[in-house]
Amino acid sequence: MPLLEITGLTRRFGGLTAVDAVSLHLTAGETLSIIGPNGAGKTTLFNLISGIDIPDTGTVCLGGHSLGGLTPERIAALGLARTFQHGRVFGNLSVRDNVLIGAHARLRAARPGLPLVGPLVELALALVRPAAVAAEEQALADEVTAILGRFGERLLPRIDQPAHSLSYANRRRLEIARALMLRPRLLLLDEPTAGMNPTETAEMLEVIRGLKDDGLSMLLIEHKLELVMALSDRVMVLDGGAVIAEGMPAAVRADPRVIEAYLGRRHSAEREPPPLAAQQFAHQLEATS
Ligand SMILES: Nc1ncnc2c1ncn2[C@@H]1O[C@H](COP(=O)(O)OP(=O)(O)O)[C@@H](O)[C@H]1O
Ligand SMILES: [Mg+2]
Repeated sequence: MPLLEITGLTRRFGGLTAVDAVSLHLTAGETLSIIGPNGAGKTTLFNLISGIDIPDTGTVCLGGHSLGGLTPERIAALGLARTFQHGRVFGNLSVRDNVLIGAHARLRAARPGLPLVGPLVELALALVRPAAVAAEEQALADEVTAILGRFGERLLPRIDQPAHSLSYANRRRLEIARALMLRPRLLLLDEPTAGMNPTETAEMLEVIRGLKDDGLSMLLIEHKLELVMALSDRVMVLDGGAVIAEGMPAAVRADPRVIEAYLGRRHSAEREPPPLAAQQFAHQLEATS
């Protein structure tokens, strides 16, 4: 049974079909990259999978459970974690607390008797619990340290600092750390290296490779082709909401439909040059083929 199975997923916004009858499957342990020009529907697809948005038609199953109609929190409790294209962290909370919040959905799933409260109240309750749960708290603290350690010296020395004091790249790293604290069965990364310089990008590649080596299943939205080639078991290409190519990375890279999606007739027919991201991607296609 595939870990993730998506069938005929469609989402329309007025007259625009942002995601158009997308089907995909992911086997446990696999990394599937989703690439495509800006506006192709990649983030919308993640929103549909994670329950933040609701499809017009189509189904998403995680580990055999249909996710249809479930809230994002229920979906998280089933083991699905994601990061956002425009990183989201709690600026006034420390690095440590931002990561701890990632355990919230998991802990509530393990203790269904707990009342439905927000993550901060949950943390506050944890603080007044007596020694009986001290061991659990120590285990959580150790887990935070281990997860932050995946990012070398980037986050660990800043564990007590508020997230708003972090650099942009560190906030993106922190978001991934929080997602990992869920101990996800499936991790969705939306452009994890967007806005990062080459050194930071190379570091992120190693972090994601480490997750992959540990057997984590991932969907990766990424524009930087060297990452896509290095990390993907398979690549799926979206254009105009629809899947236009899918397969092994090298084959997809050479697919004329893929090249056209980035630098195709649509653009040459216009006076304006294609968007910079498309030019860069096409350049990378040439450089790596
Ligand atoms: N909430 C929304 N309302 C209306 N249109 C949207 C909404 N979200 C996304 N879109 C549109 O759907 C298309 C796909 O967007 P998106 O999924 O963000 O693309 P990508 O992540 O591939 O760049 C775009 O044309 C975008 O403007
Ligand atoms: Mg996007």
